[in-house]
Amino acid sequence: FSNYLRSLRQTLQKMEQAEHPPSRQLIKTPSLEQEKKALEEEGATLLSNPQCQGNFRHKVTKDWKNTVPEKLAKFKARLIYVQGAYDSVDDMRRLAAKLCAVEVSPCNPPGNRIFYAALPPQVFLPALQSVHDGALSTTGWNRVIVEKPFGHDLESSRELSASIARIFQEEHVYRIDHYLGKEMVLNLFILRFANILLQPLWSRQYIKCVLLTFKEPIGTEGRAGYFDQFGIIRDVIQNHVMQMLSLFAMERPVSRNAEDIRNEKVKVLRCIQPATMEDTVVGQFVGNPAKGKQGYLEEPGVPHDSICPTFCSSVLRIRNDRWDGVPFIVKAGKGLDVRKTEIRVQFSDVPASLFAEEAEGPIPRNELVVRIQPDEAIYMKILGKQPGLTSRIQQTELDLTFSSRYRFVKLPEAYERLLSDVIRGDHAGFVRADELEEAWRIFTPLLQELEQKRVRPIPYVFGSRGPEEADELARRNGFVRAEGYHWPAASPT
Ligand code: BG6
Repeated sequence: FSNYLRSLRQTLQKMEQAEHPPSRQLIKTPSLEQEKKALEEEGATLLSNPQCQGNFRHKVTKDWKNTVPEKLAKFKARLIYVQGAYDSVDDMRRLAAKLCAVEVSPCNPPGNRIFYAALPPQVFLPALQSVHDGALSTTGWNRVIVEKPFGHDLESSRELSASIARIFQEEHVYRIDHYLGKEMVLNLFILRFANILLQPLWSRQYIKCVLLTFKEPIGTEGRAGYFDQFGIIRDVIQNHVMQMLSLFAMERPVSRNAEDIRNEKVKVLRCIQPATMEDTVVGQFVGNPAKGKQGYLEEPGVPHDSICPTFCSSVLRIRNDRWDGVPFIVKAGKGLDVRKTEIRVQFSDVPASLFAEEAEGPIPRNELVVRIQPDEAIYMKILGKQPGLTSRIQQTELDLTFSSRYRFVKLPEAYERLLSDVIRGDHAGFVRADELEEAWRIFTPLLQELEQKRVRPIPYVFGSRGPEEADELARRNGFVRAEGYHWPAASPT
């Protein structure tokens, strides 16, 4: 790959030194046909070295799984690489000219273009501007995918949205949150609105509390520079967890149309009160020498006095007639015991239970668990009769585990699905500017308070369940943790 870059650089330098730089000259040439022909020649020279080309193509596709070899080969042959500066309109014009050259084939559709901006914040806007000024298609549509961070707090996010809006219209912008492409997150919508069985239960009348959990058994994995500036609330809760929460709690949209769905998500977010310090626990993992794990502060690139939270649990309250009084306990952390993302709905106790005397402790509550990953599943914890010559009650489950029910179905990767949505122009799985703003509104006061008061996160050992204070917070908010029950399909930890 570095050979390839070197050869590209050399060729470009030669072009710069030439009396009439070919690329500039090409862009100024009035005849498109001439331009394309010359570019094809130039492209052929630049990319003719099979080794360099091969290295580049290999780098792009090396991690692809389950691809049909012939299709992969065809795809690889279509990859081209153009080097340039983010903020250079001239470089973007060269890119556009190259794209024109490959878009001319009669079997190609018009020149539709998707620009994917996964960039550091400081170059983000200049890059979008130069794409806009130099690289847009004039024969087909243009769409821009943007990756987080979408700002740092409410104010910076508003500024960023306003700046993006000066360059591209909202209908061309696709803010990606890959959780919206996960199979089980998409399933939430159908589960909620297609099942009469669940509809009457979905409110304060029968639901005691809802837990949204995101756990990872890893540290920052070489991303400490980014993570330390952001912390777990901005990295995971403000986006992924809040997206799941809004899909879980929103009202029925008028239709399945993207704008109708996003309107409902915004509405429910607007009913959520800002998170408070009293209802929040923040933590930071410390080393676990027995398991050979470093603490957060020992990770390369982390300042020795960092107060960045790697764990947070916070109770959110939705002030509307469906959810008033139901705590939504959101919890996310790195360096924890397992990898698991799930939504756990805990239902109320059965009034005047017939079985109270027989039970050894409190009678376990019904729970509905939507297991986002790993081991995608929906299961309902219920009470049944212990089989055999006994009348004892026992906790068991109605279990829809995807790996056994849909054994031969390949679940697409989140990005796979979202990219195909962009191609189809479907915005439903993307974050609208006002959704983003509402999610920031909920967390910005808490983030400011944590930072201004320099609140020290509670230490927890790498590989544990996180600070005990978080379990206590959940208990105080009505969550009863069932002891002794293990969902049979859980991956061994
Ligand atoms: C990213 C966060 O958005 O999501 C990471 O920046 C996190 O910190 C990742 O690890 C989790 O994604 P997934 O798909 O592995 O659950």
